[in-house]
Amino acid sequence: MEQCPISAGASAAKLDVSQVYRRLKPDAGISLADKATAFLDLLVQESDGPGVSAVRRQEVLRDIQRFGFYEHSPEELLWGCRFAWRHSVRCIGRFFWRQLEVRDARSCGTVEEVAQACVDHISSATNAGSIRSLVTVFAPEHRARHFRIANRQLVRYAGYRGGDGEILGDPGEVELTELCLRNGWAPPGGKGPFDVLPLLVFDSENRCLVREVPRDVLLEVPLVHPEFAWFRELHLRWYAVPIVSDMLLEIGGIRYPAAPFNGWYMGTEIGARNLADRGRYDLLPVIADKMGILDSRERSLWRDRALLELNRAVLFSYGEAGVRIIDHHTAGQLHVSFEEEERALGRPVTGRWDWLVPPLSGATSPIWVRSYDPTEYSPNFYYQPARVFSE
Ligand code: ARG
Repeated sequence: MEQCPISAGASAAKLDVSQVYRRLKPDAGISLADKATAFLDLLVQESDGPGVSAVRRQEVLRDIQRFGFYEHSPEELLWGCRFAWRHSVRCIGRFFWRQLEVRDARSCGTVEEVAQACVDHISSATNAGSIRSLVTVFAPEHRARHFRIANRQLVRYAGYRGGDGEILGDPGEVELTELCLRNGWAPPGGKGPFDVLPLLVFDSENRCLVREVPRDVLLEVPLVHPEFAWFRELHLRWYAVPIVSDMLLEIGGIRYPAAPFNGWYMGTEIGARNLADRGRYDLLPVIADKMGILDSRERSLWRDRALLELNRAVLFSYGEAGVRIIDHHTAGQLHVSFEEEERALGRPVTGRWDWLVPPLSGATSPIWVRSYDPTEYSPNFYYQPARVFSE
């Protein structure tokens, strides 16, 4: 049906922003009709958004009454996803929220189609290094058949537990790796520290598909250091695009249990966490040893020196490889610009300080001296319980 969008300025329904936000609190405990209405009211606020016609409002309420659900129009889905990013309290990259693009995959009906759409997402988001922010939205939970992606991210490295308790690869992925192995997967080139895990997709009838990500869509960056020639010999690498795939997208009361989304990396996610955490690749002692500074005395600050060089290597390598990445200083400044815009438009300035402060040089970030409203307003990407896999 043709919709006649009413521009926000012309809409009689335009309400005070803070009142709209009060009805977008995640624990507001309101009915689906109320949630849908609050979302449409938020959409009306958006000056360059699609607007909401009176006819559309009635249609939504009628569908909810008749069927117990409603379907988002492509424009509602697009803006709903953008709001979900804008409201993501853990994300320092929200300055770019308007650039998010949506791939509407609600019509994918089989685990094979879902896996293929995930592969297409990897390829399209990667864009030969000029990373695009994308979300692929699969069937909502009210459909008889919907899906879950077991992977935390579409691309991630396996972690193998050895008999001696040692772990080869990413210790953060041991559980998923074991699930893949139990479902018949074997690493194509034998076990190594950076084996890309296959996609593991389930449908609501518990059909499961294990699918290898084709090599030709995968972009990875070999890590080198601007000065230390030996760094290359460590054979470290990381993948180009972080695509979070296990969170629940909720828009106007409609829940999408599979909606993988991506931005691009901030260097510290790799250099100060994935490769540095003791519970992950734990590489600081290795790097300090190569630098000749490994020391039993913590006060020599060998850890900090190794950490800094590892982070320089990450930013340098992604730059050399032509893969988009942002440093934590620039990201902090852009987040402040985002905050200023939100404040100016009367919207709550949300955030989780403990997530937004970078894990390196925390107090040099403008985030350090700020405080945030931690409310996860709807629409948003929420954590959801890991699927219970019956095997
Ligand atoms: N921190 C996660 C990782 O290191 C990625 C989370 C999303 N990050 C992003 N820049 N969009 O893999």
